[in-house]
Amino acid sequence: MGGEISGLDLRSLTPESAELEEIRAAIYRNKLIVIRNQELTPAEYVDFTRKLGTPQVYFQDNYHHPDFPEIFVSSNVNEEGKKVGVAGTGHYWHTDCQFQQQPLSLTSISPVVIPQSVRATYYIDMAKVYRALPDELKILVDGSTMIHGGNNRYKVQPSDVDKSLQQLIDYMNEIVPPVKHPAVITHPVTKEKALYMSSGFTMGIEGLTYEENQKAMRALFDFTEREEHVHMHSWDKGDIIIWDNRFLLHKSSQLPPGEKSKSYRIGIYDAYPFYIGIKNENHEN
Ligand SMILES: [Fe+2]
Repeated sequence: MGGEISGLDLRSLTPESAELEEIRAAIYRNKLIVIRNQELTPAEYVDFTRKLGTPQVYFQDNYHHPDFPEIFVSSNVNEEGKKVGVAGTGHYWHTDCQFQQQPLSLTSISPVVIPQSVRATYYIDMAKVYRALPDELKILVDGSTMIHGGNNRYKVQPSDVDKSLQQLIDYMNEIVPPVKHPAVITHPVTKEKALYMSSGFTMGIEGLTYEENQKAMRALFDFTEREEHVHMHSWDKGDIIIWDNRFLLHKSSQLPPGEKSKSYRIGIYDAYPFYIGIKNENHEN
């Protein structure tokens, strides 16, 4: 996993340039790429992602950059005394927007304020996990459908004061009801198969009882999250990291108290269906 690109100025790419095709191919080939030494303004960063596909506007606007809704801000740095974006995002294994009908195909990250001690994101390649599954787990997932939801990860906002937990759960169920996807998906470009589940968002296998699901989920999560499957990617100022959400689970690192961190994320819908068999919707934001 992982490819590195340097010596390229992303601002100079035109939609037809050969370099852009190479970046696309490198993402599907390596699952994750890092493009070094970029100094993009927020507007230039959005512009670059537009050349790769359709930038996502995240469905909850408390994450948005004040001037560019396509930029999802993960930050614990206050600006002029004001909170911007959301702190403490993604400290659990997940793949972006797995709880939606059309999950996000690619995620890009640009670190803005780099913490002193921890500069890493953790990844698990789910195509590799699928290939390594022991028979007793493979039998559980082949041909199965899984149910995913994002309710437990809802970030409480200032406007939620005086609402009960039940009201918040009802609200989340209304805007992002649980969704179903195949437990094993086939990549539309590489045709590789990957296990598509995460302990962050996956609720269970369709058709199993509560007890059967508890047992099945625990066994699958334990196998997936084994240390031998975890890849740590360290990042630095000027990096633009892009990965394929069909293949990779990720988890952000926990910051020690007092450390500052800020990063910009732009989700990108590429030109392909999320997996073979799903309808490819046209994402017009
Ligand atoms: Fe994420």
